[in-house]
Amino acid sequence: MMTRYLSWLPQRAASKIFRSITRLGFVQKAIDKEMNRMMADLENTVKPYGDKFQAFSRLPAAGVSRESILAIMNRINDQETAKWKNGFVSGAVYHGDAAHIDFLNRVYSINSQSNPLHSDIWPSAAKYESEIVSMTAGMLGADRTADEICGVVSSGGTESILLAMKTYRDRAREEKRITHPEMIAPVTAHAAFDKAAQYFNIKMVHIPVGQDLRADVAAAQQAITKNTVVMIGSAPSFPHGVVDPIAELSEIARKKGIGFHTDACLGAFVLPWAERLGYDVPAFDFRLPGVTSISADTHKYGYAAKGTSVILYRGQALRHYQYFTATDWPGGLYFSPSFAGSRPGALSAACWAAMVSLGETGYLEAARRILSTAAQIKEGIKRISDLHLLGDSLWVIAFSARDLNIYQVMEKMGQKGWSLNGLHRPACIHLCVTLRHAQPGVAERFLADLQGAVEQVKAHPREKGQTAPVYGMAAAIPFRGLVGDMLRRYIDLLYRVK
Ligand SMILES: Cc1ncc(COP(=O)(O)O)c(C=O)c1O
Repeated sequence: MMTRYLSWLPQRAASKIFRSITRLGFVQKAIDKEMNRMMADLENTVKPYGDKFQAFSRLPAAGVSRESILAIMNRINDQETAKWKNGFVSGAVYHGDAAHIDFLNRVYSINSQSNPLHSDIWPSAAKYESEIVSMTAGMLGADRTADEICGVVSSGGTESILLAMKTYRDRAREEKRITHPEMIAPVTAHAAFDKAAQYFNIKMVHIPVGQDLRADVAAAQQAITKNTVVMIGSAPSFPHGVVDPIAELSEIARKKGIGFHTDACLGAFVLPWAERLGYDVPAFDFRLPGVTSISADTHKYGYAAKGTSVILYRGQALRHYQYFTATDWPGGLYFSPSFAGSRPGALSAACWAAMVSLGETGYLEAARRILSTAAQIKEGIKRISDLHLLGDSLWVIAFSARDLNIYQVMEKMGQKGWSLNGLHRPACIHLCVTLRHAQPGVAERFLADLQGAVEQVKAHPREKGQTAPVYGMAAAIPFRGLVGDMLRRYIDLLYRVK
């Protein structure tokens, strides 16, 4: 069959292509085999409860008692809590003190039926959400600009980013008749921007970062075309925790009349306080006239429960492009500010409660503890001669190894109980420091374990583990589609009942 399709080619070229396709077939088979092996290995990690608790692939004939369900969940929760509570996890849980969690849970239970879609039944939801937006805007320069800063509450950083990108696309279509929109983002910008590009048919134009891992301003300038609708910078970036040159980038955008989005999902609730504490914080917020929107995650360093974020805009006119309204639907007049219809009002209530209960002094103190812990960890890493820090970050600490496989170091850390983030391009790992790491003894334990992990890898440099081969394979495969397949199979695994 294959030769028939190739028959119009000169014989030598045809047989050469045929040979390489056959070879690719072998390679594909070898990759499939390797992937199957990896997935089988991963299955036990991803699905650890198969032989401990009953799995329900269909509804139980009769309902299970509430007591049994609570007992099962408590047993599962006990197994999963110790790791993050004791500060073994990068990011993920940002506050985590028992009293804070209990308080948020009480707030949630009071408001558990609330749905902001029905603002007539729960006007409290509109109160909480408008105040969350206003308090966040106040932290991010709203009082230092003549423009009105407004926004909405979303479900998380990704939704805030998706909403903003849709907003810029729609504004450009309406006001500039741009039908082939493009966005410019540094390669280090969060993957949510690529997701937005894919979902909303916006061409992603990636620009490189320099040696300091910050966006290359000249490349950003050059990337602008008549179709550019928005430019992006991170404050700070997820991988290396560095703040892009947002003053320069946003000024370029302003002069060209295009939008500029600061992704402060990680930084919004730390950087303003870091600045007050005297740290060197580059400008990133609405004090810069070119910044037209900011994503700010309340469910990270805002210390709210998971499921809220804020997307802020310079001016109501821009925010209007985000809204959805349906005026002719038989179901009635319908509108919603964000992607979801019905939403959990209790999460907004808990977010409001977290912000109001912490207040300025609470956030300032939290930032002080996080930043001093991060400084201690960075100093410790500098003393491990086989490792080196990447970028000049405040609290997201990325590091790599000089002559070792950094993923093997991550693997050894995993065996000691640590859950760190593996990054690539360049190969490195990071620890996103939270209040969990500011507990007594955690930074010391991290550094001692890291030193131990490095020694172990040096002693057994060829030892194969679980994580290192996954990253090794992902880096080695030139066909990114195959890597994508690997990730899709991983998601399939998550949804397998076991
Ligand atoms: C800089 C940055 N932007 C966006 C996001 C996406 O946030 P979420 O996971 O809440 O969707 C993250 C998450 O870590 C982030 O660090």
